[in-house]
Amino acid sequence: MRTDTPLTIYRKDYTAPSYLVDTVELGFDLDPARTIVANRLTMRRNPASAQREIELYGEDIELVALRLNGKALGKREYRLDGNLLRIPNAPEEVTLEIETLCAPEKNTALSGLYVSNGNFITQCEAEGFRRITFFPDRPDVMAKYTVMLRADKERYPVLLSNGNLVDEGMLPDGRHYAKWEDPFLKPSYLFALVAAKLVCQEEKFKLADGREALLQVWVEEGNLDKTDYAMQSLKKSIRWDEERFGLELDLDRFMIVATGDFNMGAMENKGLNIFNTKYVLANPRVATDIDFQGIEAVVGHEYFHNWTGNRVTCRDWFQLSLKEGLTVFRDQEFSGDMIGTSTGRAVNRIDQVRTLRAAQFPEDAGPMAHPVRPDSFVEINNFYTVTVYEKGAEVVRMYQTLLGREGFRKGMDLYFERHDGQAVECDDFRRAMADANDRNLDQFERWYSQAGTPVVRAQMRYDEQQHAVELTLSQSCPATPGQPEKLPFHIPVAVGLVGRDGRDIPLVIDDQERGTTTVLELTGAEQTFRFTSVPQQPVPSILRDFSAPVVLEYDYSDEDLLHLFSHDSDPVNRWEAGQRLAMERLLRLTEDVTAGSRLQLDDTFIEAMRKVLTDESLGPAFREQALLLPTESMIAEQTDVVHPLSIHMARQFVRSSIGNRLRAELLAAYDANQTPGQYSPDAESIGKRALKNLALGYLAAASDDEGIALAERQFDEADNMTDRAAALGALVHARAPAAQRALQGFYDEFEKEALVVDKWFAMQASSPSTDVAAVRELMKHPAFTMKNPNRARSLVFNFCMANPVQFHVPDGSGYAFWAEQVMALDALNPQVAARLARAMDRWRRYAPALQAHMKQALKQVNGLKKLSNDVREVVSKALA
Ligand code: PHE
Ligand code: ZN
Repeated sequence: MRTDTPLTIYRKDYTAPSYLVDTVELGFDLDPARTIVANRLTMRRNPASAQREIELYGEDIELVALRLNGKALGKREYRLDGNLLRIPNAPEEVTLEIETLCAPEKNTALSGLYVSNGNFITQCEAEGFRRITFFPDRPDVMAKYTVMLRADKERYPVLLSNGNLVDEGMLPDGRHYAKWEDPFLKPSYLFALVAAKLVCQEEKFKLADGREALLQVWVEEGNLDKTDYAMQSLKKSIRWDEERFGLELDLDRFMIVATGDFNMGAMENKGLNIFNTKYVLANPRVATDIDFQGIEAVVGHEYFHNWTGNRVTCRDWFQLSLKEGLTVFRDQEFSGDMIGTSTGRAVNRIDQVRTLRAAQFPEDAGPMAHPVRPDSFVEINNFYTVTVYEKGAEVVRMYQTLLGREGFRKGMDLYFERHDGQAVECDDFRRAMADANDRNLDQFERWYSQAGTPVVRAQMRYDEQQHAVELTLSQSCPATPGQPEKLPFHIPVAVGLVGRDGRDIPLVIDDQERGTTTVLELTGAEQTFRFTSVPQQPVPSILRDFSAPVVLEYDYSDEDLLHLFSHDSDPVNRWEAGQRLAMERLLRLTEDVTAGSRLQLDDTFIEAMRKVLTDESLGPAFREQALLLPTESMIAEQTDVVHPLSIHMARQFVRSSIGNRLRAELLAAYDANQTPGQYSPDAESIGKRALKNLALGYLAAASDDEGIALAERQFDEADNMTDRAAALGALVHARAPAAQRALQGFYDEFEKEALVVDKWFAMQASSPSTDVAAVRELMKHPAFTMKNPNRARSLVFNFCMANPVQFHVPDGSGYAFWAEQVMALDALNPQVAARLARAMDRWRRYAPALQAHMKQALKQVNGLKKLSNDVREVVSKALA
């Protein structure tokens, strides 16, 4: 049978569960080839449901026995169609006993119970629990779990699950056991177990109320020299949530386990977070500054889920952003607070804006565009997206912008007061924010229901006689799949007026003083705001701190932008002015490349860059951001017909021009921003290394060999991975003769460090000198495997998503490669395959000849009879 059109699930079809589960007792006899799972459930009819059938899901497991209230059920007393097991005519209260079999070693999808490097690991979000046992596997069924683990003691000395360890010991047959009890109600997606050979770093930590909690970070042997930063980050996270939100750790024990085989970044299972090694393991020798920052953010993120996600969870998966948007916002605020300084915070914010523009705006304009709270999906795993996460976080941030920090805190307090222990909806969060602040946030709901990036157009008129400024803001939002028309959003637009002297002009609206930055609330299609007592024509600084996830259009002159770039008191908009200056030039140069015209870069731009580079009053981290050009994908989004090669050449031209014309200043910055002494991943040192390495990159892109020589020296002498990898990247990307030797040396030194080998593959995969044939060669390397998601991402994903020049070669061979790899990966791991499938999202925007090849590749994949729902959804939506 051809399963061309998999089932679409709609939010509007939600119905309450027919039965509720009170307790779950799970028994595991762990064996890689044949694990026996005994599941004893006490259930009762849900008064809120009209349905009388018990509904349980099960996938890729074998049903061995089924008993209801002590009596074995005959074949006629239940129905098993596909993944749904139904028991009709069940009594009001039941005890179900279910025995199933599964084969963890064959589980390459890494969902459910699987084996990673000989260890048992689980992953249950979103619908993995049903791959372990039959269960009403939906987030609105919350129960108390008791778990008994039995396994060989030699191979699996460590047995972990959620909550508290209540018993452990030996079994008569020589195996050992451990019994765990989770005192909190939880949905099945938060269940976890680990049975493994691991070691841990542990510590007792005092909580705000005086209790002591045991914190553990579990890793494979040989990695205890890389757990310090994760432990520190965990302690900082616990403290921060106490202080900022009054939220305490509710368990006596909190564990983090690292595994090398993981589909995502990490998972917030109650009391037993399971992490991709990428977000745990770090020391200066193997991890970069970005890795350290990632660990802090992800450890925080998963910890913060304990309240936003676990104590209060989602009613259904359409509400995913309820926990994810909120928790990303919380981890962003945490990272900002850990940096502390205001420019440090701004740099952090700039990073968020870059991610949004480089990844979320394209998603919101493409075939997979969906609202923060989707209305339908085929495969929920496809909706763990930048829209649900990052745009979702922007939506939460807007409450704080509208209500203030205190108002936001009041809303959070009310949210927990009302909903602790419940499975709720995004609307419940919005209502808590509104009610706690006595505000009407009805229109704000559209941020959850309408997809697409709103465009805010601004116009300013200065009245010389009246000394008044009229700022007219209008909004629109492009059509997205299934949503041709949009209604106006409730948009907080933070505004300032910058005077000729570069200082902010005090704002007065309706005779009210509003400070130097004020939040205007745009709710209509068009509104005009009038500022009085403005002595001279200002330059407006609009959308300060990126106060809403929108595209802002304003006809700034170069002069205006240079003024803001030198003076804006809002660092995010100061950076933004530089990005506008750069983008304008990059777009023009891209056209020039395509037309074959001579390329030229004006002195004005170079002088602006010189000025930031040499402005010692600005921190190095900010200067680095200000000098960083928009990415090739960001430029692509701004052009009507995408010519990847033209974009690349234009950007390279600007890079080498900066390298040539600011040579002396770059060299000076390179020298001035060394970080001698012991490596430390603090914000200031990170900023210095970032600026130094940006300078190195520009110098290496210039036409003389001094930059290359510098990179070679840095590669040989660096004592930390940040500088090492930056130097190697500069050599590889500049196609330096020394690159091959350096790559070989790097591999030889780090071949035992999986995460560094990932970097080694990634660096080559994204280099414009690596073509399809070279990637195919690299896939034959003994260290390459498609079975490990990190490794597949490092080589295959990076080639398809971060090497536009080679991926989009005119003969279409990049796309044929993509199709081949999506299909190969789909047979192993559909979730990961579907992520690779999304490399083609924007195919309709490319030049016609490329489009034809892309369409053919998409059709080839879609034509496959045996394809997962995951990949099917992505490619069929791309072709629709
Ligand atoms: N809930 C996890 C997080 O964001 C992400 C995740 C989803 C992990 C699905 C695994 C599977 O923190
Ligand atoms: Zn999350």
